[in-house]
Amino acid sequence: MLEYTLEVTTGSMLHAGTFDNLYVTLIGSERESEHTALTDVGLDESGKVGTYSVTTLFSLGFLLLLKLEKDPFHESPQTDWFCSKVVVTTPEEDEILFPCYKWLSGGESVLLRGGRATKAFEDFYPSLVYQRRKERLQQKLTYQWDKYADGMAYVLNINDPTLMPEEIRFSYSKAFQFHYINEKALAELKMKGLTNTTEKWESFEAMKDVSWFKKAPMSEYVSKHWKDDDFFGYQFLNGVNPTVIQRCSKLPSNFPVTEQMVRPFLAHGSSLSEEIEMGNIFIIDYKIMEGLPTRVIDGKPVSVSAPLCLFYLNPEKKLRPIAIQLSQKPSEDNPIFLPSDLESDWLLAKIFVRNADTLYHSLVVHLHNTHLLSEVYTMATLRNLPQIHPLYKLLIPHHRDTLHINILSRAQLYGPGRFLDNCSLGNDGVIELMRRALFQTTYASFCVPENIAARGLESIPDFYYRDDALRLWNIISSFVSALVPFYYPSDSEVTADYELQEWINEIFFYGFLGNSDSGFPSSFQTVDELIKFVTMVIFSSSCQHAAVNGGQFDFLGWIPNGPALLHQPPPTTKGQSSMERLLATLPNKSFAARSMTIVWRLSRKHDDFVPLGSYPEQRFDEPAALQMIQDFQAQLSSLSAAIAKRNSELEVPYKYLNPKGVENSITI
Ligand code: FE2
Repeated sequence: MLEYTLEVTTGSMLHAGTFDNLYVTLIGSERESEHTALTDVGLDESGKVGTYSVTTLFSLGFLLLLKLEKDPFHESPQTDWFCSKVVVTTPEEDEILFPCYKWLSGGESVLLRGGRATKAFEDFYPSLVYQRRKERLQQKLTYQWDKYADGMAYVLNINDPTLMPEEIRFSYSKAFQFHYINEKALAELKMKGLTNTTEKWESFEAMKDVSWFKKAPMSEYVSKHWKDDDFFGYQFLNGVNPTVIQRCSKLPSNFPVTEQMVRPFLAHGSSLSEEIEMGNIFIIDYKIMEGLPTRVIDGKPVSVSAPLCLFYLNPEKKLRPIAIQLSQKPSEDNPIFLPSDLESDWLLAKIFVRNADTLYHSLVVHLHNTHLLSEVYTMATLRNLPQIHPLYKLLIPHHRDTLHINILSRAQLYGPGRFLDNCSLGNDGVIELMRRALFQTTYASFCVPENIAARGLESIPDFYYRDDALRLWNIISSFVSALVPFYYPSDSEVTADYELQEWINEIFFYGFLGNSDSGFPSSFQTVDELIKFVTMVIFSSSCQHAAVNGGQFDFLGWIPNGPALLHQPPPTTKGQSSMERLLATLPNKSFAARSMTIVWRLSRKHDDFVPLGSYPEQRFDEPAALQMIQDFQAQLSSLSAAIAKRNSELEVPYKYLNPKGVENSITI
């Protein structure tokens, strides 16, 4: 008799175990084993590792597949079982890992592949070819594309998370926590009378009731410094949206700032043209917001500005705003505001810039460029790459929970009647803005080194987002540059992998709508092209999301600094504003309370947080790949220590890209 020893691991999450009957069949290149019961009932405990044996009269040959089946007891209600993995030791003493990481319910069965990661053209046994095709076919039926709106990236066609396979959903504990936190926050605001009211704020002081309903040192700091020009400039480098500012090498023709206007704010004796020449002038331009449809309140459309703002990097190395124009077309009733204007005029102009930036950040930088495009990468992986594929093993941890959180976003945040329908833009404006963003987006802008260079920001001081993002990009790139060539030693292996080519082709067509001007690839010809794209996917789904998500409560929790709705139109003359007008312009109590609750929820860390580079699911079995993961983790760990040391010396630490706090995927 020959004995195969099986080590079967049940997941460690809540309710992972089962009392139901479990069976296993080993399928080899020569023959199959008997359908064998996993003898002792006892896979009822989360995290249990059970050892079992399967005996055969003759060798099975090369062990190819492992079939797991669950059969409920007839007289008791069935319970689902989460199998993490099975490790088989063959009579020849080979140890083969069969990753599973699936829930089995009812009388379900699953056919697992084990051993080295393979591409389709490396499968020689008909049973493996058949299993591979069947798995892809099934995945394509489960995860189907849906057109959300014309001109937007496609999404998953499921709008109820409970209809997705359980392993793709939030864990029980996360789903509970997510719901509980929301209910608790809403109850607290209700108690304070901050829901269902159209009341305006009577003072800035009163806003602390809502902005500080959960105290955070950074949101308190923002409430103290939001009016400061230094802090206003700082945010465009190290706040929640570090993606818009760029060096200004020539003033746009529609922004007629004169030497005379800004001379008082420049170094003594200097001029605007000299400072532009020296590279000390920077600009943000929200042209993309121009003419967007907006929400209508009491029969009047709400105004959304499309501002331009000029910044000066002064000799003290502080980035300060020196001129703001709130609309794109220069005219008499579109004045250029200056720091020397009436305090309330200047502050009002800055609030309109913050409004445009908050909307652009929430909808484009955060929702569209990270959440929605990561949904496209996730869908393409699930549909095209079988579990045994090396890129499935690499990428699936970076797709965890993304489909679930995006379904919840569609149910709660954007769409008719959802929260963002109440922001300045309303639903039509929200969709139009994301449509424009997708049309204008480029592959280069998603790749950090090219993005920073294109914006001329290589040397601006105290730009911690850039410093950390570049280091993270390089660390991810060096990990991917080791792992990908291990599985793709030549360009010809890349071009021969039809599953990989279908993966990128679906991303190109369903994500970027086949727009070749975007520069996104529709196929891969070389290993280097593949490395770059995979680096971008991992970076966007972890680091970039962390940079634009983690600081939402810190920076946008203080209402005047992050207003997604303004009730008054932008000023058309100078000298007419007042602090009363400012308060009447800011979001009313009810909207402010709702937006604050949302940014607070979205900035929270959940209990099942998985940091970048942690792979709790063991999917790779090759020692070389496991070593590469360890090297990756070591590099992240030393970067984390360096960032912590740097932060300890800063008045305002930049903490959003410390790898310890960067989640492996988009889960919130
Ligand atoms: Fe997010």
